[in-house]
Parts: sequence; C-alpha cells; structure tokens
Amino acid sequence: MKTTISEAAKHIGEEVTIGGWLSNKRSSGKIAFLQLRDGTGFMQGIVVKADIGEEKFQEAKGLTQETSLYVTGVIAEDTRSPLGYEMQVKGFEVIQEAVDYPITPKEHGTEFLMDHRHLWLRSKRQHAVMKVRNEIIRATYEFFNTNGYVKIDPPILTGSSAEGSTELFHTKYFEEDAYLSQSGQLYMEAAAMAFGRVFSFGPTFRAEKSKTRRHLIEFWMIEPEMAFMDHEDSLEVQEQYVSHVVQSVLENCRIELDTLGRDTEKLEKIKAPFPRISYDDAVTLLKEKGFDDIEWGEDFGAPHETAIAEAYDKPVFITNYPAEIKAFYMKPDPERPEVVLCADMIAPEGYGEIIGGSQRIDDLELMKQRYEEHGLSGDAYKWYLQLREYGSVPHSGFGLGLERTVAWIAGVEHVRETIPFPRLLNRLYP
Ligand code: 4AD
Ligand code: MG
Repeated sequence: MKTTISEAAKHIGEEVTIGGWLSNKRSSGKIAFLQLRDGTGFMQGIVVKADIGEEKFQEAKGLTQETSLYVTGVIAEDTRSPLGYEMQVKGFEVIQEAVDYPITPKEHGTEFLMDHRHLWLRSKRQHAVMKVRNEIIRATYEFFNTNGYVKIDPPILTGSSAEGSTELFHTKYFEEDAYLSQSGQLYMEAAAMAFGRVFSFGPTFRAEKSKTRRHLIEFWMIEPEMAFMDHEDSLEVQEQYVSHVVQSVLENCRIELDTLGRDTEKLEKIKAPFPRISYDDAVTLLKEKGFDDIEWGEDFGAPHETAIAEAYDKPVFITNYPAEIKAFYMKPDPERPEVVLCADMIAPEGYGEIIGGSQRIDDLELMKQRYEEHGLSGDAYKWYLQLREYGSVPHSGFGLGLERTVAWIAGVEHVRETIPFPRLLNRLYP
C-alpha cells in the first residue's frame, strides 16, 4: 500500500511503500540507516543485511544523497525519534540516481546556499521553517474566517502609492505608469465599506535599499480592515489574532519547532492581552536606558525597538506616534492632534516590528488637507476620497508582515530563510 511519511503513523505494524528521497545515510557491516524524506516529513529506514540479502544491502550502502526511490517496509514504533516511528526496510527501487548533490551535510556559506535555494529548500531546517510559515497562513485564514471576515484581494498593479513614494517599484502599464503594490490598504478600506470586516493576504513590494535581517524587497502581508472599529478595538483584534497564530504553531508544528531548536516556553506565554506603551513613554524609557540619540518626534530604529521589547516577554504595542513620522491617512488623536491613533506591534526577542496599524481618517475635509500637505495629487486618490463622501464611518486596520512573523515564531535569525525564494537587495536568483 502506498502512503506518505506523515500518514505512516496510521500504519504501525503494516507493510507500506513510500516514494521519497535519500537525505542522508550511515552504515556498518550488517546494518544501514537511511534518512528518508518525502516532503511530508523525515523518517529513518533500517536496512538489515540478513533480511534483505547481500546484493540489495550493498546497493543500499551505495545509495547517494537525493536519489529518488520507492521504499517498501514495515512501520515500527521508535520512541527515540521525534516522529515516533521508523521503517524496517524490506526492499527499495531507485527512480533516479542523484550524482554529486551540491548541498552535503557539511557546513556551507550563506551565499552558496542562497544560490542553491531551489535545492536548499529540501533540507530539514528549511523544510521546518516553511511548515511553520504554512501553519501561520492556515491559522490566519482560520482566525479571520471564524470571526466573520471576508477575504478580499487588492490589486498588485496600482496607479499610485499607498505608503510613500520613495520605495515604489515602477513599471509600464502599456502607455501609462504603474507601480507594484506596497500595501493593499487603500483598497481594503473601500472593501471594508462594502463588506464590513475584510482581510487580504498577498505579496507587497518595497524598493528599499535596506540590507538588514528584517527587510525583503518582496514580502507577504496580511491586511485586515474593519468598519465601525476604533483604534482600541483594532488592538484587541491584533492581540487575539497573533495569540491564535502562535498557539496554533505550538499545537501543530511540534516536530518542526523541535528541529529548529526553538525555545517553546517563550512561545507558550504569547497570549492576549499584550502590553501597550505610548510613544512618549517609550522615548522616556529609551533615555533611561542610555539612548542619548533619540528625541521626541524622531522615528525608532531597530536598536530602539529591541530595547523597548526587552522590557516584556510578549509582543508590545507602541502607540500614538507623532503624526509627522507616520502615514498621511492616520487619524489624529482628538485630544492631542500632534500624535495619531496608531500602533506598531513589536515582537519579543529582538525580532522587531511585525505589525503596523491605525485608525484611519474618516473626515473628508481633513483627508483633503492631508493630501495637500503631503503633496499627493488629487486625481489618483479621487476614489479614495469618495469613500469619505458616501457614508463615511470610523474604521481601523493593520498589516502583519508574514516573514518577520515567521522569523520570530520559528526563531530564525534572518528573513531570507522565511520565504521560499527571497527577493533581496542584489538577489533576484533563483
Ligand atoms: O508598517 P507598514 O509599512 O504598514 C503598512 O503598509 C500599512 N498600510 C498596513 C495597514 O495598515 N494595512 O508594513 C506593515 C508590516 C510591518 O510591520 C512589517 O512587519 C512588514 O509589513 N514589512 C516588511 N517585511 C519585510 N520586509 C520589508 N521591507 C517590510 N516592510 C514592512
Ligand atoms: Mg511600519
């Protein structure tokens, strides 16, 4: 009977056939241990010379890394492996022999691995990171679907900028100019006025010349937008959502977190509510911690965010930033118009900002004024202004960066390992 490594749990004591690849092996005179992978997991296959015969045993000993094969054997419990079972191999049939696979079990440099990303993805660690990513996506759909949100897909090709004009990717749209989406937010605001609560999940592009462990040129963002929700309501959605995602990964990616050596005790603590600190208090905290370089009105850099996050063992919201350093669409605090009703969610353990969100300006006149102040042209945003003309309501939303979230939850240092084929400054290959 044909099955897979993960499904084999249901076939203890039975003989099954699995199609897979040889990821590693070791052997002695009488026994060979094959490390098999099939995409669903990694499993050990034991080949005993006395069972399989001299000729087949020699063939097993000669198998090369990444050779594809069908392996037949009996699934047996094995309490030492994280999987809980292994295979007593009765026979195997090579599909294609792999010669000189470039990624050997020894250490390789980052650039070499990145050049071989199409193959590197097969390794146990990369496999685990992608499974965590997949679980975060699954739990995202689950959370928003069970809370009455409608998934809406904003366009990728746009006629104007959503976040700021300096980081736009330009392209031609026949005779017109077009840009790759930096954020679907403006379209999601239109969608919220049509469907109430909506979320999107899609690729976004930033032509940022940043070469840090947190920046990708192409990254995926989850952008919920909610009508009739104010800033505080939105923070509650955010902490519930992120808690749900972390707890789902803990529940469904036990083997992967173990492979990654992730300290799961830290993740167990990630349950709503999350602490909040105002931008004002964050500046004071930073000064107390000895940061002399920061003054009220300046944006925080990665070291500042890390220093603030250190005070907490959960993600922290930094709220109410100065309007000057935030996007044009954020609603000013009615009591204190120099700050806006916004928050960044900063992950613990130095992973930095994973969410940016705010209540949006719902007043037509104020929105027009903001456009003028930011020197944005009226025509491209005409439709966006109309949302404030026909039944405008208080509304809020946020964007969660998927790769930074994967990096934090999986405990991976650099975002380049959190997306299948990263687009980085100086890297468009493979
Ligand atoms: O803070 P940002 O720029 O917010 C927006 O784009 C809003 N329009 C979202 C909204 O309210 N709908 O980006 C949101 C998140 C950041 O917190 C970060 O996690 C991620 O997107 N992000 C990046 N991730 C990887 N590489 C980059 N260059 C990123 N830029 C932002
Ligand atoms: Mg931001």
